[in-house]
Amino acid sequence: MKIVVIGAGGAMGRRVADRLERRGAQVVRAHRATGVDAATSEGLTAAVDGADVVIDCLNVAAATEAKAVAFFEQTAANIADAAKAAGARVVLLSISNASDPAVNAKMGYYKGKARQEQVYREKLGEQLTIVHTTQWFELALTMSEQFALGPLAMMPHMVTAPLAADDGADVIVDVALGASFAGAASIQVRGPERMDLLDVARQARKALGRKGKVFSLRFGGPGLTDGSLIPDPADVITSTTVKRWLATL
Ligand SMILES: NC(=O)c1ccc[n+]([C@@H]2O[C@H](COP(=O)([O-])OP(=O)(O)OC[C@H]3O[C@@H](n4cnc5c(N)ncnc54)[C@H](OP(=O)(O)O)[C@@H]3O)[C@@H](O)[C@H]2O)c1
Repeated sequence: MKIVVIGAGGAMGRRVADRLERRGAQVVRAHRATGVDAATSEGLTAAVDGADVVIDCLNVAAATEAKAVAFFEQTAANIADAAKAAGARVVLLSISNASDPAVNAKMGYYKGKARQEQVYREKLGEQLTIVHTTQWFELALTMSEQFALGPLAMMPHMVTAPLAADDGADVIVDVALGASFAGAASIQVRGPERMDLLDVARQARKALGRKGKVFSLRFGGPGLTDGSLIPDPADVITSTTVKRWLATL
């Protein structure tokens, strides 16, 4: 089975591509560093030609809603067109409830993800499965470092049911190989415990011996803290607890 992983150099794309290879798939690792640009379509048709499945694990560091929406809209349209021409199924990685206006009202990046989902749905219909996951434990470290000012790390409160990226990758791979949720339009994946990602950031930085406190940052509106980020019901509840994940750092 030929599977193209778009964004295969990233945190999730790399995990997915490695697992697929271990399970015997012929994997094409497609991202700009390997000559495939999903925004301009450079190298895209050739990469997707003959594919059975295309997995979209793309990301953009977008500071504004306009940039996030433009990137995800364009890349979704380009990938959907290429996949359709090749007769390939698409598995899109997205964020649980990011398309809910109550959640994304003050989150330009989430509005970009909402537009990405919409474009794919319109173009592909039944050829598409969206795997929505809650926030990954790893995001706590990425975000707290992204918002750091010298030794002062900052992080918004985000009440979610976070999961280990490795567990998320296992689900995506099963879906791509048709081993679970065959034919599903969309599935929801969450971690085992409800918690504030700010607390995960504090514990993770402590475990890594990082100096300095993590301060709370006002950001994103009430949808980030009132439980709306947690899908209910979820199709998959992953097993790795924060305690077990911290022990891997
Ligand atoms: N973090 C979370 O908690 C979480 C939760 C749920 C869902 N998600 C979603 O998961 C997805 C992947 O996130 P991630 O953290 O794994 O991403 P990431 O580490 O930032 O990696 C992004 C990948 O996209 C590639 N890329 C960027 N622009 C490209 C372009 N124009 N054409 C082709 N490739 C391009 C990058 O490689 P090059 O630079 O070489 O192009 C890289 O391989 C995102 O859509 C995110 O919304 C994240």
